[in-house]
Amino acid sequence: MNPRSVETAEVEGKRVLVRSDLNVPLQDGRIADDTRIRAALPTLELLFERGAAEVVVCSHLGRPKGADPAFAIAPVEARLTELLPDARLRVLENTRFLPGETTNDEATARTLADGMDLYVNDAFGSAHRAHASTEAVAHVLPAYAGLLLLAELDHLGRLLGEVERPFVLVAGGSKVEDKLGVLQNLGGRADTVIVGGKMAEELRDENPLDFAVELPSDVVAAASFDAAADTRVAPYDELPAGWLGLDIGPDSRERFGSIVRRAATVFWNGPMGVFEWDAFAAGTKAVAEAVAAVNGYTVVGGGDSVRAISELGLDDDVSWVSTGGGASLELLEGKELPGVAAIPAG
Ligand code: 3PG
Ligand code: MG
Repeated sequence: MNPRSVETAEVEGKRVLVRSDLNVPLQDGRIADDTRIRAALPTLELLFERGAAEVVVCSHLGRPKGADPAFAIAPVEARLTELLPDARLRVLENTRFLPGETTNDEATARTLADGMDLYVNDAFGSAHRAHASTEAVAHVLPAYAGLLLLAELDHLGRLLGEVERPFVLVAGGSKVEDKLGVLQNLGGRADTVIVGGKMAEELRDENPLDFAVELPSDVVAAASFDAAADTRVAPYDELPAGWLGLDIGPDSRERFGSIVRRAATVFWNGPMGVFEWDAFAAGTKAVAEAVAAVNGYTVVGGGDSVRAISELGLDDDVSWVSTGGGASLELLEGKELPGVAAIPAG
């Protein structure tokens, strides 16, 4: 059952509270990638077009412990109002500055809802969190799903049904703890599971998953964790003592690339190495290019993979770039997302 759409809401003259996921990567206080801010625009534009009297947008930013100025919403607010200059738009401070946000506190939800007529949740990237601004507030105000949230459910949902095969899943990145369970639940549905990045290191000695995975055969090893470190290519299981594997090696790039290029359906989450540093970017780049070359249904999710694909200018060559990392993984695992479940069905 789909949550009811903002398109069915009567918004003329109404004050609308919108929860977006504007949790963008910051570097030195500046926005490193504004994909999520741009993705939030269509719902806001719709509300303005339909005559909303006021649109109040809220989001979390980072994982602050209390009201920490380093996580102030100001740079995000500046970018959003630059992209959408409208006097009816207002942006609230980081929702995680509110003590009751992450505990899904009802009084906090009432504070957010104060003076508002309806609530629109468009924060797909946060839909796996039961927080005051994503869950509790949906029980305080009439709640609707935003356009991005619905589009994400639609596109990712295609991977839950019958897919064209081969279906290749590519997993990488560093949040290994979060992802192994997901992979366990999800991997059995794919024809081939490729694992690179830090996750591959974790599986080197023992694979706790109950299916086979394609692991790197070689790595780009670095003498230290540094962008300018000495590097050499080493076999995956023969890393020189004290060295770190910071990217997959040339053989693995070739093999992973050709598996991906033969796929009809691909879901990719997580880079193959420390792609922010040029010396360790080739593996992620090879995967991104292979995914972009596939003529089937391809989905890329997760902040780092999305950043990689957009830095390479390949966003238009994949079927769907998901704004959700953890949220898209939990959805694909078949879990119910609390932010979605709280919205009445439409
Ligand atoms: C994300 O970036 O994955 C979402 O914005 C959720 O952030 P969180 O993992 O800090 O809850
Ligand atoms: Mg996350």
